[in-house]
Order: sequence, then C-alpha cells, then structure tokens
Amino acid sequence: MSSKKILILGGRGRLAASLAECWSRNHEVVSWGRAEANVSNLEKLRTQLAGVEFDVLVNGSGATNVDGCESAREEARTVNALAPLVMAESASKRGARFIHFSTDYVFDGKKEAPYTEPDPANPGGWYGQTKLDGENLVLADSPAHLVVRVSWVFGPAKPSFVDMIIQRALENDHVEAVDDKFSAPTYAPDVADWLEPFLAQPLPGGLYHACNTGSCSWREYGEKALEFAAEAGLALKTTKVGGVPLSQMKQFIAPRPVFSILSTSKLAAATGITPRHWHAALRDYIFEKYASLPSRS
Ligand SMILES: NC(=O)c1ccc[n+]([C@@H]2O[C@H](COP(=O)([O-])OP(=O)(O)OC[C@H]3O[C@@H](n4cnc5c(N)ncnc54)[C@H](OP(=O)(O)O)[C@@H]3O)[C@@H](O)[C@H]2O)c1
Repeated sequence: MSSKKILILGGRGRLAASLAECWSRNHEVVSWGRAEANVSNLEKLRTQLAGVEFDVLVNGSGATNVDGCESAREEARTVNALAPLVMAESASKRGARFIHFSTDYVFDGKKEAPYTEPDPANPGGWYGQTKLDGENLVLADSPAHLVVRVSWVFGPAKPSFVDMIIQRALENDHVEAVDDKFSAPTYAPDVADWLEPFLAQPLPGGLYHACNTGSCSWREYGEKALEFAAEAGLALKTTKVGGVPLSQMKQFIAPRPVFSILSTSKLAAATGITPRHWHAALRDYIFEKYASLPSRS
C-alpha cells in the first residue's frame, strides 16, 4: 500500500493515539491534540485545515463524557456534530478521505440482537443524539467519508474500564460492575488494523460498525480482565466481580442502551477482515501492559 499523509485531530484520545501509533509504521502521521487544534473553534479549525496537506483526515476528538453532555449541551453539539462537518467539508475540498467515529449509544438498546448499520437509530441521551447528528452531517457532505461506530473502547493510550477494575481488585477483596447492560469491547490497536484498508481510497465509504466479536455484560468484561490480570502475575485481592443492576447506578444521568452489540458483517465483507474475539484482544492488552510489572499486593 502506498504511504498516505494522515492528519489526526483529538490526537491524545484513547482511540486516536492508538491509530497514530499503529499507522505511523506505514504512513506519515501528524497528530494534533486539543492544544494544537481546539475543534470547538469552528472558524479557526476551518482555517487550520485549509493550511495543511493531507490525504486522510481522522477525527479522534469527541465530547465523550456521556453524563457531562447532558449539561454541556452546546459544547457537545459543537464537538460531536458541527466540528465533524467542518472536517468533512475540508476533506471533501481536498478530495481526501475523512474518517469519523461514532457510538453504539445512537441506539436505544431495545433490539435484543446485534445492530446492523441500517437499523434505525434512536438515542436516549444528548451524547448519542449529538453523535447521530454528526454521523448524518458527515455522510450528507459525502458518502465517500467513513463513519465508524465503536463500543467500549480499551487500549494502551489511556486507562478505561479494564484498568479501573484491575486497580479496584488490587486494592479491594470485593468489586462490582453492572450485570444487565451488554455490548462488545473494542481494542483500539485492532481498530487501526481493521481500518487500514480504507486508507487507500477505493473501498466504499459510509457507515460501518467496528468492534471485537463476542459480547458481554460489564460484569463479565471485568471478570475476564481480572482472570487475565491474575494470569499475568498481578496480586489481585479477588478475581470475582459481583453484579449490580444498571438501575442502581444513581450517578448515571443520561439513559444508556442496555443492549448495544454491533454486528461487524459489513466491515468484514468490505475488508475481508473478521475482528478477533474480545477475549484474545483483552488478553494481549493486559499481558502487554501488566505482565512486566512487579507483582503488587
Ligand atoms: N471510549 C468508548 O468506549 C467509546 C465508545 C463508543 C464510541 N466512542 C467514540 O470513539 C471516539 C474516540 O473516543 P475515545 O474513547 O478515544 O475518547 P477520548 O479518550 O475521550 O478522546 C476524545 C478526545 O477528544 C478530545 N477533545 C474533546 N473536545 C475537544 C476539543 N474541543 N478540541 C480538541 N480536542 C477535543 C479530548 O481531548 P482532552 O483530553 O483534552 O479533553 C480527547 O483527547 C469518539 O468519537 C467517541 O464518541 C468511544
């Protein structure tokens, strides 16, 4: 594959930083964090993008605090919907591909079977609504752009639920997680592999679902993380995760879909890549991050 000039925005994020690291092996990657480009300043963003060369523009930025979006509504709309449109238009002007990320939270979670791309979206909260608005604005600008919905992202760039549950089990002999909400974890470096074929233009754009295969509740996800962490040599105080119902999470402000597993058939058909099971990805992550650490108690 020929080397591409890739510009990544929101470059310090969990997903974006992994994309930058993985794609730097074969491509020329420039990554801008908030300090280099605050995407909320739409006019400045437009000017900045007009001043740089790129073949592919990637949006890793997002107002991702699901509950925070309920109160910071205008900021969420600007970052999740209006800024992606500015990026899409800038990419279109250059004939460049634009890759934007969205979320399983665009769904209401009532389907009880994996969601496919044509399934109707019906977000329950403002985060999901602004992400859906962003999807629609980007694809209305050009169907050649790529909008990729991911779920439960974990990876080396930034701690996530996985690291939080391991930390809790290092310090406590009882840990809990929600056991009646189901989704599929997504390993950030795997996303880089799945999307690399799209960096060469000919593959069709549009909406794609991208996550590791298999599914789980937060409780099962946490318990598998503890199993691998113990295997990697961490001195955990427990490898069991107790279940709590979502309804008991009083700190959650925004409604969340209880079932939001994404079908990846479209991605597999387009790229020939079937994502590996989340167990394999999680094991790799935990061994790479934690196996070299001295045992802690
Ligand atoms: N994490 C998940 O489980 C998950 C699930 C579904 C979908 N997604 C989607 O995946 C994408 C990437 O998420 P992620 O997990 O990598 O999230 P993340 O770690 O929170 O990264 C988002 C990045 O956006 C940056 N950002 C926010 N507002 C900005 C602004 N005004 N200007 C410039 N940068 C700004 C943040 O910078 P600061 O650090 O400076 O705030 C942060 O680095 C998002 O589109 C998200 O909606 C994530």
